[in-house]
Amino acid sequence: MNQFDLTGQVSLVTGASAGGLGYHSALALAEHGSDLFLADQASRKEDLEQTKAAIEALGRQAEVGFVDVADEGSVDAMVAAATGRFGKIDVLVHHAGVMLRKDAFEMTLAEWQRIVDINLTGTWLVDRRVAREMVGRQRGKIINTSTLYTNVVGPLPESAYYASKAGVANLTRGLALEWGKYNVQVNCIAPGVFYPTQMTAPLQAQPERLEWMRQRTFLGRLGNPESDLRGLVVFLSAAASDYVTGQVIFADGGWTAW
Ligand SMILES: NC(=O)c1ccc[n+]([C@@H]2O[C@H](COP(=O)([O-])OP(=O)(O)OC[C@H]3O[C@@H](n4cnc5c(N)ncnc54)[C@H](O)[C@@H]3O)[C@@H](O)[C@H]2O)c1
Repeated sequence: MNQFDLTGQVSLVTGASAGGLGYHSALALAEHGSDLFLADQASRKEDLEQTKAAIEALGRQAEVGFVDVADEGSVDAMVAAATGRFGKIDVLVHHAGVMLRKDAFEMTLAEWQRIVDINLTGTWLVDRRVAREMVGRQRGKIINTSTLYTNVVGPLPESAYYASKAGVANLTRGLALEWGKYNVQVNCIAPGVFYPTQMTAPLQAQPERLEWMRQRTFLGRLGNPESDLRGLVVFLSAAASDYVTGQVIFADGGWTAW
């Protein structure tokens, strides 16, 4: 048995638009045999269609859907569309998220709440809705997305991001505890600085900061979205990780090891 084979499986990826980590996760799953339901905000329609075309070029089936992960009705509709199209969901890779760089004194309550709603509450809403589909079949893989700034913070004012993503890590452990009895594994990827994506592209204007980040990693380079995350996503989606649950796995070039 090939423990990394995803043939016949269906994966739902959020934040799946071209230009982000979700694009690469979706392609990796398709390369290993999975069909894909690709979700993102309606404003990303063209980028989402690019991911769909890339999946279909690999000979896999793909469907797109729009979602606001902070809205329960929208999450319900996304999952209903995915199961309506493919009949099941074996794997959830939940990448949708936002970052806000702002001093705490300047941040409004509405800004704080929007970050927490998308990053933390959105993860809970999406995980819970998809898990409801998985428990009846007694199998499923859920992969959440935190950040290298899960147990530590960075040098810039991003308190809502740090707090919400730290919450994602412990939410992952809590859900893994609850859903282990259904054979649903829940894990979390904590990426280092992956460049460039839509979120990290503004670093282009800050070459000194980019250089500092490179030097800050043991491996002396930033993460490459093409190659440095795909294997981990496939591992956590496949039978190879059937005894791995409740874990936060850092793919950060060593950043958080000291
Ligand atoms: N790129 C990195 O270096 C890095 C590092 C650490 C963590 N991350 C995390 O990885 C994930 C992907 O980041 P990325 O770098 O690909 O950035 P990205 O901005 O390209 O991807 C985030 C995606 O989330 C979607 N999204 C935002 N709000 C949404 C909402 N309310 N509903 C549905 N979708 C929504 C966006 O449209 C976008 O496609 C994020 O959760 C991010 O926090 C990225």
